[in-house]
Amino acid sequence: MSKQKTILSGIQPSGKLHIGNYFGAMRQHIRMQEEGDAFYFLANYHSLTSVSDGGLLKEYTTDVVLDYLALGLDPEKCTFFAQSDVPQTTELAWILGCLTPVSLMEKGVAYKDKVANGLSPNIGLFTYPILQAADILIYHSDLVPVGEDQKQNIEIARDLAGKLNRACDKELLNIPEDYILKSVATVPGIDGRKMSKSYGNTINIFAEGKALKKRVMSIQTDSKALEDPKDPDTCNVFALIKLFADEPKRQEIADQYRAGGYGYGHAKKELLDLILGYFAEARERRKELEKNMDYVHDVLRNGGKKARKRAETVMKPIREATGLIRSFEY
Ligand code: ADP
Ligand code: TRP
Repeated sequence: MSKQKTILSGIQPSGKLHIGNYFGAMRQHIRMQEEGDAFYFLANYHSLTSVSDGGLLKEYTTDVVLDYLALGLDPEKCTFFAQSDVPQTTELAWILGCLTPVSLMEKGVAYKDKVANGLSPNIGLFTYPILQAADILIYHSDLVPVGEDQKQNIEIARDLAGKLNRACDKELLNIPEDYILKSVATVPGIDGRKMSKSYGNTINIFAEGKALKKRVMSIQTDSKALEDPKDPDTCNVFALIKLFADEPKRQEIADQYRAGGYGYGHAKKELLDLILGYFAEARERRKELEKNMDYVHDVLRNGGKKARKRAETVMKPIREATGLIRSFEY
């Protein structure tokens, strides 16, 4: 029997998760827990590159754990943990950093974007891809399901694994396959740009009541009158409806758009109901989990223990090969 593939992915707890994160990443993570030996983690060291308030980071971290568990991540089927529970990650990141030319990091797209936008980036942001490479390589990952925007970071991880193997003349690290989630279209935000925390245009997965209504009602549309026929394919509201509605419902709404006499207000009301219905069960589960934080902390504690154990088996030969002495055991 062939060995199960190790699947790994992470998400930064750096704000409330939105429906772009769900359809673009989390849904696939949850599906893939059935398909291999899956490791999913909260990239809280990475969040430090943008969040400096400790209380806030803890709050975001708890939110993301609750979100994933409520949406169907099953800690019996995968290893779910916090990056900061695996200190071997930063240890490997340092070793990889010592093999990384500064010029490679200077080509980093995310880094270059921040500079172009006038931000003065910190060193953590500059070396972000090295830490991400360590995340991937420390578990001998085979598949790393991420969106198109992460492609460069996966390439860097492959590159750095090769550099360490060559430097030590040993297969110390597995070279992961490129695995980009292509099926996922970019989810638009309420202003039509890519939905993103950094644009303030998100609809959060677990928003409800007035807050959710306000977000949905403020989705930008053109100014066609109620009676005018409308094109569903160029409408932000319909782009979101498509994610939540089944095929017959999608068709029905598209026909109404084209026929005229169906306003954007109608479409927004439809979208609101669809969102509420789609996440209804998960919302209930999240509320139950919130009352049971001991269980939630246990999940992370157990996940961290498993992840550290795996990471240590990979790190030990690397310490040997690089000549780092270690006079204690984890
Ligand atoms: P944000 O842009 O809100 O900061 P992140 O960069 O933290 O989101 O993304 C986390 C994950 O969610 C990534 O895998 C990314 O590809 C996915 N993702 C984020 N926004 C979208 C979107 N609008 N459409 C599809 N996927 C998205
Ligand atoms: N950079 C990823 C993002 O912003 C998060 C991340 C950190 C990650 N380490 C990772 C994703 C390792 C996959 C594998 O979405």
